Amino acid sequence: MDYISKKPLVGYNMIQNPKRYTVTAALIYANGPIHIGHLAGCYLPADIYVRYLRSTEKDVVFVSGTDEHGVPITIKAKKEGITPQQVVDKYYVQIKDSFEQFGISFDIYSRTSKKEHHDLSQQFFKTLYDKGVFNEEVTEQYFDEKANQFLADRYIMGTCPNCHNENAYGDQCEKCGSTLSPTELINPRSTLSGAKPVMRKTKNWYLPLDKMQPQIEAFVNSHPEWKTNVSGQCQSWLKQGLQPRAMTRDLDWGVKVPLADTDGKVLYVWFDAPIGYITFTKELLTVDSGQLAVKNPAILRDSTHNPQLTTHNWEPYWKDKETKLVHFIGKDNIVFHCIIFPAMLMAEGSYILPDNVPANEFMNLEGDKISTSRNWAVWLHEYLQEFPGKQDVLRYALCSNAPETKDNDFTWKDFQLRNNSELVAILGNFVNRALVLTQKYYDGKVPARVHLTDYDKQVLVELENFPAKIASSLELYRFREAQAEMMNLARLGNKYLADTEPWKLAKTDMGGVGSILNISLQITATLAIVMEPFLPFTAKRLNSFLNLESSFWSEAGKQNLLKVDHQLATPELLFDKIEDDVIEKQVLKLAESKKQNQLENTVVQPQKENVTFDDFQKMDIRIATILEAERVPKTDKLLKLKLDTGLDQRTVVSGIAKYYKPEEIIGKQVCLLANLAPRDIKGITSQGMILMAEDKDGSLSFVSPTVGISNGGSVA
Ligand code: 2FM
Ligand code: ZN
Repeated sequence: MDYISKKPLVGYNMIQNPKRYTVTAALIYANGPIHIGHLAGCYLPADIYVRYLRSTEKDVVFVSGTDEHGVPITIKAKKEGITPQQVVDKYYVQIKDSFEQFGISFDIYSRTSKKEHHDLSQQFFKTLYDKGVFNEEVTEQYFDEKANQFLADRYIMGTCPNCHNENAYGDQCEKCGSTLSPTELINPRSTLSGAKPVMRKTKNWYLPLDKMQPQIEAFVNSHPEWKTNVSGQCQSWLKQGLQPRAMTRDLDWGVKVPLADTDGKVLYVWFDAPIGYITFTKELLTVDSGQLAVKNPAILRDSTHNPQLTTHNWEPYWKDKETKLVHFIGKDNIVFHCIIFPAMLMAEGSYILPDNVPANEFMNLEGDKISTSRNWAVWLHEYLQEFPGKQDVLRYALCSNAPETKDNDFTWKDFQLRNNSELVAILGNFVNRALVLTQKYYDGKVPARVHLTDYDKQVLVELENFPAKIASSLELYRFREAQAEMMNLARLGNKYLADTEPWKLAKTDMGGVGSILNISLQITATLAIVMEPFLPFTAKRLNSFLNLESSFWSEAGKQNLLKVDHQLATPELLFDKIEDDVIEKQVLKLAESKKQNQLENTVVQPQKENVTFDDFQKMDIRIATILEAERVPKTDKLLKLKLDTGLDQRTVVSGIAKYYKPEEIIGKQVCLLANLAPRDIKGITSQGMILMAEDKDGSLSFVSPTVGISNGGSVA
């Protein structure tokens, strides 16, 4: 147990000038499609970072895939009535496809259900076991005798001890948000069979995080540069004191525990999943990936497309101290990547530790938390159908508003504004003007800079400074700031053209026009480089308009990126306006989902206290016809109705204006409680009450006879 007796480790701090980079993005559970929250929280920033690194000719592997074990998968399988394997097979393909379509440029996107991953996770576990790292403990856990299995936290429900919600889970009450353990639940029940679970003894293997605390603390503290939200969560865990954590579970879906007599036990999903990063790197680089890519659909960018990959040996990417390991994740994964996985790596001993874990907070949607179960999300596969070819617009909107330091909100209005006022009006407009004017005055050939004004010179200096500014934000994982800076370069170009007005100057000074357009085109060519991490599809199109191969970052900002007389291709618009009706359709779609959700979740009112037959007999309910209807002024709920009751014609005020227009209901037969004592409502005496049926969403509908009945007919 040498790792425990060692003095706290120091000096893990940030790697300067790394030789290579290993960048990972969280292995999402393959139990559902992905939405904008996933993209904004983890995959988009990771992709921007990696694209930037590739552009700076760094040796980088970008690794991700699906997490195909754990209770979330088995729960989904039960819900859909299919096997866990069928669940992960279905969603792996869909998730991988969405990422590819959004240009998330993984080198490999693999899966934890592969044999290679099971082998490596078991080997990792066995190494720790052989080193005597684990505590073997027998504890009592809930067991379902009907289903004949131990119950994972999510398989137990019961009453929350804090808020008395009867449907709290074994690990959390979703009503009051408190974290629970299964034994705290009052009246626990198994969600598998409904049976009352019993306590049964079971053996599991625990990682002694408590004993490892000094080293973990030293590791975390040696990274003062980590984002505040990340350090904050780590410090809070450390302050509470780390507890031993079971690395095995009594389940039948997962990586089998590689020890004798452990049938029905698998590795904890948070033990095997992060090892997936290693397995997938190995899968990418062990053998010649150029050949493998043909046979292995998980490999997306083999070495022939990725000249920066200098080696096919996976080990340096995980074992060489000069490798910078960066984990991109969402905030719910912080403790696993900053504490538990590093502890596993430390205990194993041969691996490097993460240099940074730039976790984002959550992206909300229209003021509400994104939720799969409530269908409150913008699903990527649906966006792709509804906004074909507009992947960069969503990338841009999400990055502009990325939840880097706090939870943020995605709104369709903001999305429209980002597109119309920034992408179209600034970036697209500038590029279009530069290209179209060059076509007009120079047949699409880059003109020379003849003589330069002070303003021209100043713009060239500013152009030169932009790439470094953008890069420094990217190096610090400040992607919003970096993208805003990229847009500032387009602003600079826009302003330059607006100020110099080459279309006017063309009448008097074609030399000046040539200089202005040359400088504008140099800005455009730099934009094509620096926008690529954020807007890869647009960058590609722009390069085709410029008739340029894509260039590396080191070329950006240069004054002669485009040579004089270089022939440009015919330009098209980079972006187009998104109209109000398109946005309204999306807002309506969300409103529909909210309504549906309310309907599904509204609880049916419990039955009221019994009444006697005599009580009921006292009520005079009869059929009446609406003769007249009008709105009650200054209210939005009330209608004043005149009714024929068979006895008389009388006035009744009814709160139905939200559901019925006056002109629609004339002649309608309704049920009237005729002997309700008259009441004054907004100065009108209401003589009775119309019976209405109320739906779960609160909407009202008349209770009417299905055939015509004489007015005054009794209802009993
Ligand atoms: O939160 C999740 O979706 C987890 N499946 C993330 C795992 S990340 C890594 F450890 F694999
Ligand atoms: Zn509660």
